Amino acid sequence: MAAGMLMPMVRFAVDPVLKAEEGGDFVATKQKVSDLTKDPVKVDFTFKQKDAWYESEVTNIAWVYKDDAGKIVALSPTCKHLGCTVNWNTDKEHPGQFFCPCHYGRYEKNGQNIPGTPPLAPLDVYPFKEKDGYLYLGKAQPRKEA
Ligand code: FES
Repeated sequence: MAAGMLMPMVRFAVDPVLKAEEGGDFVATKQKVSDLTKDPVKVDFTFKQKDAWYESEVTNIAWVYKDDAGKIVALSPTCKHLGCTVNWNTDKEHPGQFFCPCHYGRYEKNGQNIPGTPPLAPLDVYPFKEKDGYLYLGKAQPRKEA
């Protein structure tokens, strides 16, 4: 019984430390790096999120491709206008771009927002790494050059 009462207290004391470590974590995806091409693919990845005492599984999406130099580009799908989800190559009038259906926002393949459309900033980018041939993604960040 005493152990049952003590465990939540111990967890309370340790949690802040654990949270700091989770902040720098990369999450494994099922995407093989060798399968990536110049065409963006939607990569789903799931991670555990702790909100105070509530832990839940969150599924995120990234648009990932290799640029002309063979470098991986991993973009957030969250539109920088009002947060809708952008899709690749779904606007028939503007092929080869990311398109946000909410207010017709458009982005170049590299995530740069197209002037004259609602978004005022480029799509966020995910830091990434490769481990055992698979793609790992970190927390999406705004671009530094934006
Ligand atoms: S939310 Fe994407 S254009 Fe408005």
